[in-house]
Amino acid sequence: MSILPVSLLISWPKYQNAPQNSPLFNGDAWSLGGNGDYVPHEGPVIVPPPGIGGVPIQLAAGVGGGYVTTGPFANMTVNLGPVGGLEGVPAGPQGGLGYNPRRLKRDLGPALNKRYANYTTILNLLSQPNVDAFRLVSEGVPYTPEIGPHGGMHYAIGGDPGGDLFTSPGDPAFWVHHGQMDSVWAIWQALGGSSRYTSLGTGPYAHRTWTNDPPASLAQLSDVIDMGYAGESTTIEKVMSTVGGELCYFYL
Ligand SMILES: *[C@@H]1O[C@H](CO)[C@@H](O)[C@H](O)[C@H]1NC(C)=O
Ligand SMILES: *[C@@H]1O[C@H](CO)[C@@H](O)[C@H](O)[C@H]1NC(C)=O
Repeated sequence: MSILPVSLLISWPKYQNAPQNSPLFNGDAWSLGGNGDYVPHEGPVIVPPPGIGGVPIQLAAGVGGGYVTTGPFANMTVNLGPVGGLEGVPAGPQGGLGYNPRRLKRDLGPALNKRYANYTTILNLLSQPNVDAFRLVSEGVPYTPEIGPHGGMHYAIGGDPGGDLFTSPGDPAFWVHHGQMDSVWAIWQALGGSSRYTSLGTGPYAHRTWTNDPPASLAQLSDVIDMGYAGESTTIEKVMSTVGGELCYFYL
């Protein structure tokens, strides 16, 4: 299993010309299911929240868009969401939080992968001097078309619920994408000094609200992460290192 993280680190750009044909998404028995069947469609439009300013951001379409019909998650039923945030995608019942069974869709394709998670992106990310700068590359510049490899690869998977900011964990592919985010962060930490395991920074992503909206105080290492039904609560400090605190794994 130790070679998996290495392939994770390079997997964003490695398959950028056709992520739908990568081992993760080629639809064979070992994949996470295939792309959605092709249906003609436009790419998603991200709508900034009211009162923020900024213009809607038109993203490129993938080469799927329809139901996933191949591989282990073929015809999987998704129950939660969508909550919203994409133009023209209405929320499900009860604002997207109600029971809403429907079939998994994906819209994988090269355009967003190449634009937001190419080899230059990774090199640029790993070269950032501090966590504030790192996050402006990984998460992007708020309310601009620079949505970073985090957002970019969410939309490069796209579909439903993959394209929904709030319920994208309902697509199993969410978990390998976030594994990849964890992997680049851990490797960036290992490339720098010990402050990378303790500094939370002071930039737009260092506050207790997303991009400091509404304005909030800076996050602290002692802040509790409430895991809800998914597990026991922890603190930021305990999950700053993959081999310190409560965690015990590393990437090669
Ligand atoms: C998925 O649904 C399609 C269309 O209804 C069907 O042709 C296909 O056999 C289904 N595949 C699986 C694995 O259930
Ligand atoms: C590669 O990614 C960077 C962002 O990290 C972007 O500025 C650049 O345009 C991308 N290259 C291509 C060919 O899209």
